Amino acid sequence: MTLTTKFLGRTYTSPLMNGAGVRCTTVEELEALRQSSAGSFVTKTATREPRAGNPGHRMSALPYGSINSMGLPNKGLPYYLDYLTSLPDQGANNFLSVAGFSEEDQMAVLETIAASDFAGIVELNLSCPNIPGHPQLAYDFDATDKLLAKVFDRFDNLELGVKLPPFFDPIHFDQIAAVLNKYPIKYANSINSLGNGFFVDPETDAPMIEPKGGFGGIGGGYAKPTALANVRALHERLRDDIALIGTGGVQTGRDVYDLILCGASMVQVATAFGPEGVAVFDRLNGELQSILDSKGYADVTSTVGQLHTV
Ligand code: FUM
Repeated sequence: MTLTTKFLGRTYTSPLMNGAGVRCTTVEELEALRQSSAGSFVTKTATREPRAGNPGHRMSALPYGSINSMGLPNKGLPYYLDYLTSLPDQGANNFLSVAGFSEEDQMAVLETIAASDFAGIVELNLSCPNIPGHPQLAYDFDATDKLLAKVFDRFDNLELGVKLPPFFDPIHFDQIAAVLNKYPIKYANSINSLGNGFFVDPETDAPMIEPKGGFGGIGGGYAKPTALANVRALHERLRDDIALIGTGGVQTGRDVYDLILCGASMVQVATAFGPEGVAVFDRLNGELQSILDSKGYADVTSTVGQLHTV
């Protein structure tokens, strides 16, 4: 296998990892990921306090993907910090996803991390679509700018990336890139689910999920073209020292390869990881390896951004 991948000065055996949300909430799930052939893992997005998330039936498989309105159920930041700092490398090669519900809350979360022994990478989730009354922060460019200014004024040595929602207009790609380029962020993870989609259950003629009247984030195959577009657009606009993680619609090695060609250095698997479990990484590593071999690439890093022009 030559899936060696460089990311933020670290070396990984594979560019693949899970997407925050699926099978990464408990220590048991994180340990399964750690023992798997994924190159790394990210935790479920952690909040200051544990959360039960949205009530009712909140996730369903769809014909070509999934819909969810989980509402950030998680065990609370201390739980994830305890686990990560207990690892032999204090989590140096792993990702801790976090979110807050106000600027004060975001800052408090980062204060707690900065005061801990966590040696890994922090992913600030600016894009959860499923919290009633809380819009996805990254759609508000001024608020995102203000938050990042505050974050980097206070913390100059956190290795921090951001999880972005999908954008759908070149002007919005320009605007988010202009904000991110102002700050020493290490990477952008693009994309979170397609927010506030809807699906009618043909068995019941009712919404497929219960929270938020049935509106939820759409993942899986539906998301792939939008994920590719966002990774490609950000690759063209972000500073060279801001890396990209590509997330959205990965079901095959070809999907992984496409995201890498568009500029992703690492690739996350969310919807497909649900039913397949950690075996999905074995399968995708094998499929990606075959493609890289057939195309003559020696490793993943030299493949990043190698999209051909027409
Ligand atoms: O509802 C959720 O827990 C999803 C979070 C996310 O999409 O970031």
